[in-house]
Amino acid sequence: GVTSKIAPSMLSSDFANLASEAHRMLNYGADWLHMDIMEDGLLTFLIMLPLQDGHFVGNLTIGAPVIESLRKHTKAYLDCHLMVTNPLDYVEPFGKAGASGFTFHIETSKDNWKELIENIKSHGMRPGVAIKPGTSVEEVYPLVEAETPVEMVLVMTVEPGFGGQKFMPETVYDTLLIFWLISPSFSNQVRILRKKYPALDIEVDGGLGPSTIDMAALAGANCIVAGSSVFGAPEPAQVISLLRNSVEK
Ligand code: DX5
Ligand code: ZN
Repeated sequence: GVTSKIAPSMLSSDFANLASEAHRMLNYGADWLHMDIMEDGLLTFLIMLPLQDGHFVGNLTIGAPVIESLRKHTKAYLDCHLMVTNPLDYVEPFGKAGASGFTFHIETSKDNWKELIENIKSHGMRPGVAIKPGTSVEEVYPLVEAETPVEMVLVMTVEPGFGGQKFMPETVYDTLLIFWLISPSFSNQVRILRKKYPALDIEVDGGLGPSTIDMAALAGANCIVAGSSVFGAPEPAQVISLLRNSVEK
């Protein structure tokens, strides 16, 4: 069976105090630390949200030097989520920096995922693949079934880019007929994956917290990323244990 992994998203932490924020989350009961790696221009490729002034929305977070610095302060599993146009460029630097998991997006890597997975493994990291809410879940089957497979699938439950967005139930929930009619690929990625791969690590990321966890857990997610709901809580430890209880019940 699968075990629960609760991964606070450090995107919601105080970046100026990253090591103490990490220790705080581990003391509260976190299993993993989720690290969001975004390039400016990520959204150019991944989301394509034009602003009124004609420029593209972008966000820029952290890179390998920050992972390397954090690694000196903790042995924790660093669950790195790469929202970048060319993840292959980052494999060696992240491996050397001490990343634990390396999750790339299928949308950026349709042509070179085999090479990516091999590279990630040869740099001592655990390979994962992420899909956006609108991407068809079938696109990851070959990666899960490959000779050298990914060991986790991350299903985005918001459009990637920023913390603090509203959870999209259609990524986990299959009784909203309207979503089937509008866009079949938009529906129930988690449920379909769990049915097909009972032992796979399935991570959900975006908008998860006390009011949305049951939907994601019931659909079959076992690795839970949570940023604003954990960091914004008066008692983060309670939120972490609530998330865990929902997955394990
Ligand atoms: C969004 C990131 C998430 C984000 C989640 O692109 O991948 O990891 O930090 O934050 P919350 O839990 O606040 O939606
Ligand atoms: Zn993430």
